[in-house]
Amino acid sequence: MTTYRAQVRTPLSAEQAFGYLADFANVASWDPGVRSAEQVAGSGPGVGAEYEVGVDSLKGELTLRYTIVEYVDRERFAVRAESRMLMSYDVVTVEATDTGALVTYEAELALNGPLGIADPFLAPFFDRIGDKAAAGLATALDGELVATVGKNGAAADSGVVANLVDKIVETPIVPSFTRVGYDVRKRLESWTSLDGYDLEGKVVVVTGATSGLGRAAATQLARCGATLILVGRSEQRNTKVVDEIVAETGNRSISEVAADMGDYDQVRALAARVLADHDRLDVLIHNAGALSVERSEIADGTEATVASQVVGPFLLTSLLLDRLSASGSGRVITMSSGGMYGAPLSVDKLEMAPADYNGTEQYARAKRAQATLNEMWARRFPDLDIVFHAVHPGWADTPGVDAALPTFAAIMGPLLRTPEQGADTLVWLAADPNPLTSSGVFWHDRRPRSIHKLPTTRRTDTPERRERLWRWVTERSGL
Ligand SMILES: NC(=O)c1ccc[n+]([C@@H]2O[C@H](COP(=O)([O-])OP(=O)(O)OC[C@H]3O[C@@H](n4cnc5c(N)ncnc54)[C@H](OP(=O)(O)O)[C@@H]3O)[C@@H](O)[C@H]2O)c1
Repeated sequence: MTTYRAQVRTPLSAEQAFGYLADFANVASWDPGVRSAEQVAGSGPGVGAEYEVGVDSLKGELTLRYTIVEYVDRERFAVRAESRMLMSYDVVTVEATDTGALVTYEAELALNGPLGIADPFLAPFFDRIGDKAAAGLATALDGELVATVGKNGAAADSGVVANLVDKIVETPIVPSFTRVGYDVRKRLESWTSLDGYDLEGKVVVVTGATSGLGRAAATQLARCGATLILVGRSEQRNTKVVDEIVAETGNRSISEVAADMGDYDQVRALAARVLADHDRLDVLIHNAGALSVERSEIADGTEATVASQVVGPFLLTSLLLDRLSASGSGRVITMSSGGMYGAPLSVDKLEMAPADYNGTEQYARAKRAQATLNEMWARRFPDLDIVFHAVHPGWADTPGVDAALPTFAAIMGPLLRTPEQGADTLVWLAADPNPLTSSGVFWHDRRPRSIHKLPTTRRTDTPERRERLWRWVTERSGL
């Protein structure tokens, strides 16, 4: 949550200034970032009045619905907008002065969803966001901007979401996660081309290979000559993708197994098929995953995100451990998410209850558990001929993101990575010799990264919680 404050001294009377601002449809006439604003519920200002406000975003206009939630005539009103991407709460206070009125505009803003991890980093940018809005406010009220507490005269108005979206991409996190980070690093570090790897004779399991990042990774691995086992929940979808990748790459050593990673019987059957059909296994890629807006559970009552992305993969790794180690240089690679940066390590709260369920938060907790378990596998089994790595892909334009976070996808659209760019480090970890020299590492764009960016999550990552997580997942997987 970030807060901002601007004050404008105006020669208008308090009544005039209040009347102008409390008709929130006028925001379009003073805030340069707002394209349109229209009252859509209620008549005139007052509690319950609603306004649709169209703001600039990177992919055209984004509409937010503001509601007046507090209203004291000629003194003060508050408006609130909440979307899956952000929460905005603005309070306007008007006081009469000897020469007119003093208008105070205070705004609170918090980012939700995947952008939430950028929240703590945003504050420095909001002074600049507020400049234009505050200047626009002063001009509209025919007044002057006066100094504000802690903000040197500039303030951000969370009604100025247009500028917010624009400035978000200036945070340290955002360029890194988008295609900007990919492009810059690729050039600066002269990455080797993935086409140069020869994986002939290597056997690779890829879960979640029917769509998005998994499919892009599978296609590239096929191009490098790997023998592939593609996993998805539907035999029909799997077969279609196998056929398409064979046609695209000419690699015929591709098979499929239908398995839901949140169904432990199916996971066991998958492991049995892999062991029966292949006498070696070089790489196991845990990529299957989704952010589920609606909560669901598997038969034993485990929340489904955790079941399919934490427990199921843990079980599969356990069942395939010996075969991976026997290859002499086995690799287990887990597709986590940068979303986990905002989530604490929690065992008691790993599964969100129906009353508190929030898909984005649940997903982040599961991804945090994945990244933690990756480190634990490496520390617990140093003698196996297996390296364990986790990776976060940044933000990529995939059917999964479109389905779970349509607003996010629409706003970030041009900045999102392609699936191939998002899958780059995953494939590199499966193919390059470098990752064989370390284990338990978390990667992004071919470099090791910390699994914590915030002191608040670091504090939760204690040896005791780690042990409890391992015990919990072992129990749930029935091992
Ligand atoms: N795209 C991003 O920006 C982004 C960012 C961070 C992390 N990730 C992670 O990257 C991975 C791939 O995501 P994506 O964006 O490529 O999503 P996607 O396009 O929706 O693909 C997800 C894949 O996972 C499979 N899948 C989902 N649930 C499954 C289950 N219970 N059992 C087996 N397979 C399952 C789907 O196959 P079927 O539907 O055919 O079963 C599909 O092949 C996920 O782990 C996601 O959390 C993505």
